[in-house]
Amino acid sequence: MQTERQAERRPPDGRSLTGAEAQAYRGLRDVVLAAGGIDIGRYKDRCLLRRIAVRQRASGAADLRTYLKLVKRDPLERAQLVKALTVHVSQFFRNPSTFHALQHEVLPAILAEKDRTGGRALRLWSAGCACGEEAYSLALLLCETAQDALERYSTTIYGTDIEPECLHAAREGRYPASSLKSVPASWRQRYFTAAGVQYTVGPELRRLVHFKRHNILDPVPFGRIDLAVCRNVLIYMSDSLQEQVLLGIHAALSARGYLVLGKVEGLAGATRNVFEPVNVPERVYRKRER
Ligand SMILES: C[S@@+](CC[C@H](N)C(=O)[O-])C[C@H]1O[C@@H](n2cnc3c(N)ncnc32)[C@H](O)[C@@H]1O
Repeated sequence: MQTERQAERRPPDGRSLTGAEAQAYRGLRDVVLAAGGIDIGRYKDRCLLRRIAVRQRASGAADLRTYLKLVKRDPLERAQLVKALTVHVSQFFRNPSTFHALQHEVLPAILAEKDRTGGRALRLWSAGCACGEEAYSLALLLCETAQDALERYSTTIYGTDIEPECLHAAREGRYPASSLKSVPASWRQRYFTAAGVQYTVGPELRRLVHFKRHNILDPVPFGRIDLAVCRNVLIYMSDSLQEQVLLGIHAALSARGYLVLGKVEGLAGATRNVFEPVNVPERVYRKRER
């Protein structure tokens, strides 16, 4: 019987990779690791092969071996491939019920704890922030529902992603109307400026958010995070890689810090022992007491 792992390693047309294709696939993994710092060897093969096939067809290469040659000699195609392997779909207040839980459960709990313990800084993190929609949504939520906390605490929201182009767009902060469809009209008016068919993020949100390139597989460059939101980033990774990422986030969180994952994601491996569930449908977890 075929194992799940073997089934995953099939190309999109369902047949098994030939020896030469498997070799080209390994070559592409090495190139992507060198170019983008992404160790796709531990991402799910099926997802990767599907995306590689899309790029291969778009480039006109007849097969994986030809495509590998192209990727090795053409830096633009290399960048396109790295981009294709990291999907950047997002929008403001994506999965509104999760933001409802953040507004009514998580942020009040964090702020109450801070008031109790006399903390001075509030630090949130959108890991895998794509073009910044999630990080700005957190900023907006704080501005609208915790203005007094912003006055009391030195507040920073980090938005990190592996993809430089996404970070560039995040810093520009210009979005199509469709990206703001879950933002109530009064908030849109207050925190954005309409520029033609697009909306630009205003200064109130910008001053809270800092964007930075970071590969989630690398050590986290900051700590004492009160809330880490890492949604729709783990789905493409193998269980062992998810575990590695979640342990890294765990280390960056403050004692009893919160973690929010995407709707189809969950804890992996040993991380089930170090996080406790807070709101299972919304994938909210909290660092366990030691
Ligand atoms: C589908 S988007 C999710 C955006 C946002 N978190 C959301 O849920 O709407 C996934 C993002 O993860 C980023 N990503 C993928 N692999 C990454 C890695 N190893 N390190 C950092 N970011 C990564 C991609 O570049 C992409 O912008």
